[in-house]
Amino acid sequence: MTTKISVEEMELQRDFIKKVAEINSTREPPVAHVHTFGCQQNVSDGEKIKGMLSEMGYGFSDKPDGADLVIFNTCAVRENAEDRVFGNLGALKHEKRRNPNMIIGVCGCMVQQAHIVEKIKRSFPHVDLVFGTNALHTLPQLIYEQLTVRKRKFYTPEGDGVIAEGIPVCRENALKVSVPIMYGCNNFCSYCIVPYVRGRERSRELADIVSEVKTAVATGAKEILLLGQNVNSYGKELGTSFSELLRQINALDGEFKICYMSSHPKDFTKELIDTIAECEKVTRHFHLPVQSGSDRILKLMNRHYGREDYFGIVDYIREKVPSAAITSDIIVGFPGETYEDFKETVSLVERVKFDSLYTFIYSPRKGTKAAEMPDPISAEEKGKWFRELLDVQEKMGENAYNRYIGQTFRVLCEGEGRTDSKLFTGKTPQDVIVDFAGDNSLVGKFVNVKITEAYNWALLGEVTE
Ligand code: SAH
Ligand code: SF4
Ligand code: F3S
Repeated sequence: MTTKISVEEMELQRDFIKKVAEINSTREPPVAHVHTFGCQQNVSDGEKIKGMLSEMGYGFSDKPDGADLVIFNTCAVRENAEDRVFGNLGALKHEKRRNPNMIIGVCGCMVQQAHIVEKIKRSFPHVDLVFGTNALHTLPQLIYEQLTVRKRKFYTPEGDGVIAEGIPVCRENALKVSVPIMYGCNNFCSYCIVPYVRGRERSRELADIVSEVKTAVATGAKEILLLGQNVNSYGKELGTSFSELLRQINALDGEFKICYMSSHPKDFTKELIDTIAECEKVTRHFHLPVQSGSDRILKLMNRHYGREDYFGIVDYIREKVPSAAITSDIIVGFPGETYEDFKETVSLVERVKFDSLYTFIYSPRKGTKAAEMPDPISAEEKGKWFRELLDVQEKMGENAYNRYIGQTFRVLCEGEGRTDSKLFTGKTPQDVIVDFAGDNSLVGKFVNVKITEAYNWALLGEVTE
């Protein structure tokens, strides 16, 4: 059962925040290192972890060396994500030997899997605290216990997931604010671990979200990122919809941009595309993960659409929002995929002409359906297909940005450019990076930028107002 955490429980946690703050006020101000691996949802959880720790009196360091508390907020989506966490955890062994008082915590998606918890118990004895995605809001209590009793603790409650409102947040970026609108996933794509580690789909109340966005905009946010594993099924159980949410947020006063992620093609309806076309604040970037171009593989993946359905969505987007940029995720080497299936993916990529692609080699995840399927193709062969797909996309992407030359876009100036400090940088409504000459007074403001040059990965422009 999904549970909304009660007001009483949240108050109890606030009491623990005060108790920890008292302990911390009697010693040298403690320092925490919080490292988030993983997607925007995890980044958003990381902001809550930092929000709670900050109120408990912790300062932050971007290195674990010398920290009093280290928290790894983990991702389980592919094997290399997990390997990275284990590598980093191993490296902490020496640090802990030097500083035995250091508290090491591991949370996030990885630790919602029993076999990972077992591995940490056995092979990483220097880890003090493990807490799952359903236990995030109990961090104040868990830290209090660590500071007073100092005993290893593993707390990963099972269940369909919780909604905890009112957790303090320490934002990474005041201009760009992430707002979770729903948690969990019901889709059970056969390769994916997310539904197992994040529980069932559950939406926050529309009024809670709108009021959070309103406050964020009033305090200077210029970009709102609405987060969920499948935002287009937002609100189903509440009798509302993602379209309704977008309309209400779009109607709020102030100049700001609305982004969202991720979306699933099966729920990307014409109504939603019409809504986006009408809502001028909503990004013109459509990230529509297709995963494969083969109907046979899409069926095995449990995606609930075929390639023709996908083309239908893409064509409708391009008709209604001609300035749209469309990007996608693709998995190469799903169990049982043949070279013929793979060629179907290549032909889909050639037909759609994506602005850019995120490509992954299939990684078996324990407990998923796909992990049980026969997988006869060698890693070497999959690697070849993967490179073939990259080559195809590179050719498609070459000069894809030329179409922007001469156009003028409203762009939020985010700060100095990464490569050239004389230039300032922002993103077009299609989420393409654009650099332009300017000065510090532009930072945090929307400016009109006319595109003058295009590269493979970014644009160059000039401010026209
Ligand atoms: N909920 C989002 C994001 C899921 S994870 C969505 O549905 O779009 C992001 C991407 O990781 C997925 O789109 C998929 O392409 C990739 N992915 C997920 N599980 C994977 C696995 N087991 N192996 C390889 N890639 C995977
Ligand atoms: Fe995973 Fe599919 Fe859910 Fe995305 S929609 S999180 S790929 S199960
Ligand atoms: Fe990874 Fe969990 Fe996100 S598995 S991709 S951090 S939801």
